[in-house]
Amino acid sequence: MLFDKEVEKVGYLSRSIPEGMDLKLEILKLKKEKNAVILAHYYVSDEIQSIADFVGDSLALAQASKSQKSDIIVFCGVHFMAETAKILNPTAKVLLPDLNAGCSLADSAPGPEFEVFIAQYPDAVVVSYINCSSEVKALSDYICTSSNAVEVVNSIPKDKRIIFAPDKNLGMYVQKVTGRDLILWEGACIVHVNISVEKLDKLKLIHPDAELIAHPECLPIILDSASFIGSTKALLDYVQKSPSQKFIVATEAGILYQMKQVAPNKTIIPAPALESNSCACSECPYMKMNTMVKLYNALYYEMPEIKVNPKTQEGALKALNNMLSI
Ligand code: 13P
Ligand code: SF4
Repeated sequence: MLFDKEVEKVGYLSRSIPEGMDLKLEILKLKKEKNAVILAHYYVSDEIQSIADFVGDSLALAQASKSQKSDIIVFCGVHFMAETAKILNPTAKVLLPDLNAGCSLADSAPGPEFEVFIAQYPDAVVVSYINCSSEVKALSDYICTSSNAVEVVNSIPKDKRIIFAPDKNLGMYVQKVTGRDLILWEGACIVHVNISVEKLDKLKLIHPDAELIAHPECLPIILDSASFIGSTKALLDYVQKSPSQKFIVATEAGILYQMKQVAPNKTIIPAPALESNSCACSECPYMKMNTMVKLYNALYYEMPEIKVNPKTQEGALKALNNMLSI
């Protein structure tokens, strides 16, 4: 009860850990003892990625969550991802090290407002990007990720109108690729729209031999000048396979850790942010809320736990399965 109150108040367990403790070792020990698995998105810290059992993009993480047989899934990512894991694997205990790890896209579409929005187009098929709440998922016909948004939209009969939410930039990109006229929700990712076009242009002049590659959540002006557009996993594969030796990467800087692992001899430059932080690149403040201490405490106390109400779970699962079956 004491712990419940703490989680309710601050969103995570702020218990201090014994001085000199080897956190990495203790996390791995606890994980084994409790039959737990650590899933991590490419945008969390290098340290967490290095001890995770599985690191992936949103689609791969959804697939991995569904197939896990362990009792506990510790999800090092953001709230909508942990919620998705719980929906796809309801018997597992799903933990998120910090409940405050949200997402500007998911926050842009509160369930009740979204319901009113879609009611204006009763005949439209609703496609929602996985970066949304379970309530919005339950109001949708299909979920998609940045890996399969084009395929999902292409699978819908041509005579159907389509609502695409909540990322307007991804929606405009899908619109361009598929030629479909989409009804767009006005949401955006604070990380990808924080990439500075002006600074990027200067960087391209300094590195004329670099290929610009970008995530589809970026602004259209950036996507128009990119030589490759894809999800975080697709960008990672591209860096590994492309004959080019230098890349400017327009997405969250966490992906650079894996890029350097798979292509240690290539030069990988993060796209510059409008407002600079310590690395002058664009970082997701929500993803970075996952820390080793919070991860340790989550495993130790088995909190904070993600719960989804059964009615929402049912509708959201249907929309997720409609995506996974494509
Ligand atoms: P992907 O994992 O699909 O590349 O999406 C990136 C992202 O912004 C996740 O929040
Ligand atoms: Fe949300 Fe953007 Fe952060 Fe992804 S990077 S979790 S879309 S705010």
